[in-house]
Amino acid sequence: MTTSDADRLVVVGLGYVGLPLVVEAVRAGVSVTGFDVKGATVDGLNAGRSHVDDVSDAVVAEIVAAGFRATSDASCLDEADAVIICVPTPLDGDGAPDLGAVRAATATIRDHLHAGMLVVLESTTYPGTTDGPVREILEESGLVAGRDFHLAFSPERIDPGNPVWGMRNTPKIVGGLTPACTERAASFYGRIVDTVVRVSGPREAEMAKLLENTYRHINIALVNEMAVLSHELGVDLWESIDAARTKPFGFQAFYPGPGVGGHCIPIDPNYLSHHVKSLGYEFRFVELAQEISSRMPEYVVERLARSLTARGASLSGARVLLLGVTYKADIADERETPARDVVRALRVASASVLAHDPLVAEFSVDGSPVHMVSDLDEALGACDVAVLLQAHSVYDLEHIASVAPQVFDTRGKMRGPNVERL
Ligand SMILES: NC(=O)c1ccc[n+]([C@@H]2O[C@H](COP(=O)([O-])OP(=O)(O)OC[C@H]3O[C@@H](n4cnc5c(N)ncnc54)[C@H](O)[C@@H]3O)[C@@H](O)[C@H]2O)c1
Repeated sequence: MTTSDADRLVVVGLGYVGLPLVVEAVRAGVSVTGFDVKGATVDGLNAGRSHVDDVSDAVVAEIVAAGFRATSDASCLDEADAVIICVPTPLDGDGAPDLGAVRAATATIRDHLHAGMLVVLESTTYPGTTDGPVREILEESGLVAGRDFHLAFSPERIDPGNPVWGMRNTPKIVGGLTPACTERAASFYGRIVDTVVRVSGPREAEMAKLLENTYRHINIALVNEMAVLSHELGVDLWESIDAARTKPFGFQAFYPGPGVGGHCIPIDPNYLSHHVKSLGYEFRFVELAQEISSRMPEYVVERLARSLTARGASLSGARVLLLGVTYKADIADERETPARDVVRALRVASASVLAHDPLVAEFSVDGSPVHMVSDLDEALGACDVAVLLQAHSVYDLEHIASVAPQVFDTRGKMRGPNVERL
């Protein structure tokens, strides 16, 4: 088996994870082809258009000029030295891991697998996926992992919208099926990231990613629950968190909010909890965190109702303007955004819901569109209450507080006589 570095790379799945990886690899001088089943994504990229927040059209044009091509033709795998799988790992209708895309992508690779190839899975998943289903599907080719081809897991740690930590300066964990697999994968990633962290196998690498996300999930739920209690106790939790974070050791600050969203936090820990359930164990921390954080959108609406009632008004019929509907500040991704549950609860309460988001043109909940306003000042002046769900950095929060009659701030960023914080 050849142990040369991967000069011809195919990235399978060109989304939030795959596309930034393509960019770094092209910039490192690797010859990269992107394979994706979605024709619109492939056509857009080849025409120089990005569909991912952190990658601009100019950067797509740059990599296309450097030789990058996207395709839906799997024959590109025939010539590949390395292939990296970055396809989605959602939950199915019952909340169980849905490895459908991973299995489909692996089967595609199997049909083009050749001796000496390096196959890396980056999609977040439960420990045992790489040396279980992925290995089994690949070995249907007749080639043996660790002997005829290299197989490894390397979790993606991308933080969309983070201007400081990107693909290159975030250490990359690599765990191969054999020490040679680890070395081959580490040698490849060493070309595109500053630091590679080797672990003894794919399971340790898979678990490291789930540990990181479960840690966030649990700590966010902890402060969400403390926010509810703090309100009852008349405590400004935001101030307490800022005070606690002055401790130089043993504490990391997490902040409450209107609920958790995105692909990672509400989903990944379930990969672990459902998997261990199938082995007869309960992962109680995860279940509890899920329960607490999923109640936050309703709690926000409850607080709004109380606040309006205290001012002699009613949530029923009130014009509520939601500010920021994405799951995270400064990105356009609305996957699993808690804004949807906030809208649902407001509709149940018969409020009139409007929304503004500089990054989102259309926003629907349960098939029914939310009226998106374009003139922010006019909408602020006309609403009964504005609810800051996502503090996009383009929002001038002082100005918002000065124009809106009342503000409910779920991010703890605003102050003022007409501002109530979560
Ligand atoms: N988005 C994040 O912030 C983030 C961070 C870390 C890890 N991850 C993990 O990375 C993985 C990918 O996430 P993402 O956010 O990039 O997803 P995404 O939905 O943005 O992109 C996935 C891409 O894979 C393509 N695809 C689906 N099935 C395919 C197949 N069989 N063959 C080829 N292409 C296929 C889709 O068309 C899509 O373009 C997930 O496991 C996710 O948990 C995501």
